[in-house]
Amino acid sequence: MGQPFGSYQNEIYFDGLRGVRPRFPMSHGELEARALAVLPESVRDYVAGGAGDERTQRANVAAFERWGLYPRMFVGAARRDLSVDVFGMALPAPLFMAPIGVIGLCAQDGHGDLATARAAARTGVPMVASTFSVDPMEAVAAETGPAPVLFQLYTPTDRDLAGSLVERAEKAGFKAIVVTLDAWLTGWRPRDLRTGNLPQLRGHCLANYTSDPVFRAGLERTPEEDPQAAALRWSELFGNPLTWDDLSWLRSITTLPLIVKGLCHPEDVRRARDGGVDGVYCSNHGGRQADGGLPALDALPGVVEAADGLPVLFDSGVRTGADVVKALALGATAVGIGRPYAYGLAVGGTDGIVHVLRSVLAEADLLMAVDGYPTLADLTPEALRRIG
Ligand code: FNR
Repeated sequence: MGQPFGSYQNEIYFDGLRGVRPRFPMSHGELEARALAVLPESVRDYVAGGAGDERTQRANVAAFERWGLYPRMFVGAARRDLSVDVFGMALPAPLFMAPIGVIGLCAQDGHGDLATARAAARTGVPMVASTFSVDPMEAVAAETGPAPVLFQLYTPTDRDLAGSLVERAEKAGFKAIVVTLDAWLTGWRPRDLRTGNLPQLRGHCLANYTSDPVFRAGLERTPEEDPQAAALRWSELFGNPLTWDDLSWLRSITTLPLIVKGLCHPEDVRRARDGGVDGVYCSNHGGRQADGGLPALDALPGVVEAADGLPVLFDSGVRTGADVVKALALGATAVGIGRPYAYGLAVGGTDGIVHVLRSVLAEADLLMAVDGYPTLADLTPEALRRIG
């Protein structure tokens, strides 16, 4: 192990001795407020908003407050080990960046996918690159350095196009395919409806389509000549309401680890497992897709049990290092950060994302030290107690 993640605070305190304060906010609330103040209205609403009254979105966050960690003493947790092997990837910590389409637009230079990839390279925290991207997946993968990068697939209705996207991801060096199941159409999002804004329909973040030979072959004029026609074609091909009958086909189109995102019900997990997936990803899309749902954290224990040893990725509502530790204790193999890194990007580009990731990791590490859980194996449901 190199420097423990918690050493980030020493850097900050020693800077403080020289009168230097951190460039970026130290709490999620302040980070969010600063990001929302700098993002253009349409991007701000798209990123911060969710489905319906956004109750699920808030419930995702609130769910973490209903669990408390028991501190354990006389453990001597002077050294912590957060490293984990998952899908053949040796990770420094069980943390990854969840796929965020339009992350490209959160950067001031409009190339947020590349900025995110660079943050992955600097921290070793893997990026899950969305199908929706300002820059093509090959360019994104090229910026991730030694950090693993996973490709998130929105399965188009055209199987040849799906196959082409996956083949490109394999060639570009992506380490796994994450198929998102809960967003084959857009949930009811009042904030975006208010301004009539669906970024993709306006031609944003479609580089993986417009650079794809199969997609291009289906157009009369090139996307460069007629971007509007390309966006319309995208809207025709985008949403594939997959059924269980499609799983064997999905399994067949890649030799990479196949992970399915959006599972919350144990029965779905069992069927996916039987269908040959390599991992499940418990998430409710951060409450962006369906309001009135369970907080994703409350679904996690059932997913872990049904996964029966398969790796379980988790996201939705994770804001702090303490949240990461709680999700790990409830059985997640690795935990996804979503909106917070988008806010870090908005506030400070790659440096801003690196700050967010280092802060989350530092808090998790220090918490494991203080509370006496030096390894991931120590983090079990017995470390937690339900509050209220
Ligand atoms: C997302 N999410 C998402 N998921 C996915 O599989 N593909 C995608 O392209 C996107 N795009 C996207 C855009 C924006 C603006 C957000 C905020 C989220 C969902 C994402 O991967 C993750 O599930 C949520 O972000 C988790 O919720 P919190 O923790 O960010 O609230």
